[in-house]
Amino acid sequence: KQALNIVKMKKMKAEGVPLSMLTAYDYPSAALAEEAGVDMILVGDSLGNVVLGYNSTLPVTIDDMVYHTRAVARGAEHTFIVADMPFMTYHGGIDETLKNVRRLMQEGHAHAVKMEGGLEICAAVSSIVSAGVPVLGHIGLTPQSVNTIGGYRVQGKDPQDAQRLMEEAKALEKAGAFGIVLELVTEEVAEAITKELAIPTIGIGAGRYCDGQVLVFHDVLRYASPYREKRFVKAYADVGGIIRDALGQYVQEVKQRAFPEQRHAFGADESVLESLYGA
Ligand code: KIV
Ligand code: NA
Repeated sequence: KQALNIVKMKKMKAEGVPLSMLTAYDYPSAALAEEAGVDMILVGDSLGNVVLGYNSTLPVTIDDMVYHTRAVARGAEHTFIVADMPFMTYHGGIDETLKNVRRLMQEGHAHAVKMEGGLEICAAVSSIVSAGVPVLGHIGLTPQSVNTIGGYRVQGKDPQDAQRLMEEAKALEKAGAFGIVLELVTEEVAEAITKELAIPTIGIGAGRYCDGQVLVFHDVLRYASPYREKRFVKAYADVGGIIRDALGQYVQEVKQRAFPEQRHAFGADESVLESLYGA
């Protein structure tokens, strides 16, 4: 099976076929996402929050992203993989930006990169696309700018803000972005941008009318402790609860000497190689 590509994605938009995107950060999550049939995997810098335990995405480094993207690529060899450019890795000179992009593509084995921002990143977007690397834009609530935005709040509520978002979206399309993530913007703004652009919009907390949707792996599965559900998320399973129960049972059984049983033990007469995976 071949991975999706950006030409097909644009065609899917034109035909009204929705795009499904999910984050993944390691080998098993990527393999499961691929088996589930997602169109695209995002190795998001949200890994700072959900995997590394930071309270923002700012501490995530290019080394973190390369390491996790590489693991995802090993788990999902037939899926289009987008890697996030982390905080402050695309705002210096173009040489430094391209060096960081090169690492995500060559060492991380991504197919594309994602960058947060509007007009101020369009020159970088053009240069990266010129180098043959597809770029996914990301506007609205851009977590790397949480300190200038003043918190995690819905964007595009007043007319000027809505206008600004529309201009950013158009500028990113013109700069060569193959798609744009719209994070935490009003449904009206997301719908207007989606209608205006020829490239697909991928929404998260952006309502019903985007061309695709993206969610964070751990949110979809309620895989966190403590878990706080955001309103725009739908959790499809309580994996955190399942893990907590299972681990609790394991601890108890060790304490009670209920595990291991004889069938988990090896005798001198058995070949370890033959018995390692059961009878
Ligand atoms: O890092 C991430 O998971 C993201 C998505 C929320 C779009 O950027
Ligand atoms: Na991100």
